[in-house]
Amino acid sequence: MALKRKGVILTARMLIGILAIFIVLQFIRSPRNLSAGESPASIQTRYPVPADLQSVIRRSCYDCHSNNTSYPWYSHVEPLGWWLNSHITEGKRELNFDEFASYPVYRQLAKLEAVRQQVEDGEMPLPAYTLIHTSAALTPEERERIILWVGAMQDTIKSRYPADSLKRPVRPR
Ligand code: HEC
Repeated sequence: MALKRKGVILTARMLIGILAIFIVLQFIRSPRNLSAGESPASIQTRYPVPADLQSVIRRSCYDCHSNNTSYPWYSHVEPLGWWLNSHITEGKRELNFDEFASYPVYRQLAKLEAVRQQVEDGEMPLPAYTLIHTSAALTPEERERIILWVGAMQDTIKSRYPADSLKRPVRPR
C-alpha cells in the first residue's frame, strides 16, 4: 500500500516536472521568418511566374523557401516553433524564391532542376509538413504544372544568357 502511494507521488512529481519544463520552453521563442514588402531579388522580378503557378508555390513551398512564412497556430507552441524554424533555415539555405534572382545563373539552373526532381519524386513539400499542413500537399495536376513551368524557365534562362554562364565555374587548380 505504502509502496503504491510512493509510486503515485513519484508519477505526479514527474508530470509536474514535465509541465514545468514545457512552460519554461514557451519563453524561449523561436525566431520568425517575416520580412516586410517584396524582396528585390525575388524570382518574379526577373522571370515570368504565371499567377496560377505563383499561388501553388506560395501555398506549398514558400513557408520554407521564401523570406515570409505564413505561421500556423501550432508554431506558437514551443518546441514546435523551433522544429519549424529548423526546416525554414535549412530550406532557405538550399533554395529561396525571394533571393533566386541574386543567384549566379548556373545555380539558378541547378536549383530549377532540383525543384523538378523533388516534385517529381514527391519529396517536396516535406511529408512531415504536409502531414499537419494538409493544404500544402500538391495534386498530380499541380505537380505537372510545376514541372512544365520549370522546363519553360530552363529554356528562358538558356536563351537569355551566354553558354559559359550556364555551367558551374571550375576553380583553377
Ligand atoms: C516545411 C518546410 C518545407 C516546405 C514546405 C518545402 N520545403 Fe523544400 N526543403 C526543405 C528543407 C528543410 C530542405 C533541405 C533538406 C532536404 O533536402 O531535405 C529542402 C530542400 C529543397 C530542395 C533541394 C535543393 C537542392 O539543391 O538540393 C528543393 C529543390 C526544394 N526543397 C524544393 C521545394 C519545393 C518546390 C517545395 C514546394 C512544392 C518545397 N521545397 C517545400 C523544407 C521545405
